[in-house]
Amino acid sequence: MAINNKTPIDLSGINVGIIMDGNGRWAKKNHLNVSKGHEKGVETVRQIVERAAKAQLESLSLYAFSTENWSRPKNEILGIKKLIISAINSQVPDLVEQKISLNFFGDFLSFGPKVIQAIEKAQKDTQFNEPNLQLNIALGYGGRADIIQATKLIAEDIMNGNLSTDKISDSTIFDYLSAPIEELDLLIRTGGDHRVWPGPVVDHRCQLATGHLQRAARFARDHRGTGDVPRGGQADRGADGGAVRDR
Ligand code: FPP
Repeated sequence: MAINNKTPIDLSGINVGIIMDGNGRWAKKNHLNVSKGHEKGVETVRQIVERAAKAQLESLSLYAFSTENWSRPKNEILGIKKLIISAINSQVPDLVEQKISLNFFGDFLSFGPKVIQAIEKAQKDTQFNEPNLQLNIALGYGGRADIIQATKLIAEDIMNGNLSTDKISDSTIFDYLSAPIEELDLLIRTGGDHRVWPGPVVDHRCQLATGHLQRAARFARDHRGTGDVPRGGQADRGADGGAVRDR
């Protein structure tokens, strides 16, 4: 059967990550202030989360604000902090209704007491034993910073005798990382040249991407935890080691 963008793709049970990028470019393209781009990004998140739950993903991890983003202008950061609080307040009731568990990771403590309070309440209100979707949101997260903090903790535990070097495996390292998902099956970075987040998610390239997505999802379900690489090897994997590129 030929795959086109109307063919439903079975994404059930897979772990998807999205790096939220392109808000500024979307705003510029639409002659708007960057804060409008961030607002549009949050609205797009709402739609994506709803679709992810319907598609029965195991988890959706949104990389919303990186450690590098702290270098943004003060006003923009202030706007983002307010947006995080308003997004949480307006979206948590919908998450509860859809039985979606929310979990924040990264250095969100640096966002200050109001954001921390909103986050802690949102996490508490969306605790489900068997959620329809695990929604992880990275705020103040950086992969390199996470590796550094994990390495320091591992070194400390070795020095104080709580860990022996020959017991270190990839799952040990994961235990020390703050990222909640051990293996992302698919990592999408929005805001590419052909698809400007937070504009329409479906575009002409989707038809090309669908076949990859179909194969990536099936491969992820069949090979979970084996460390196997999809056929085509590195060509199908991104620099993070797990992404299937939209070509
Ligand atoms: C990248 O766009 C996005 C950000 C810098 C931050 C976005 C964060 C939020 C909108 C908060 C999200 C909160 C929740 C709770 C989901 P960009 O400006 O780097 O875009 P560009 O690549 O076009 O410059």
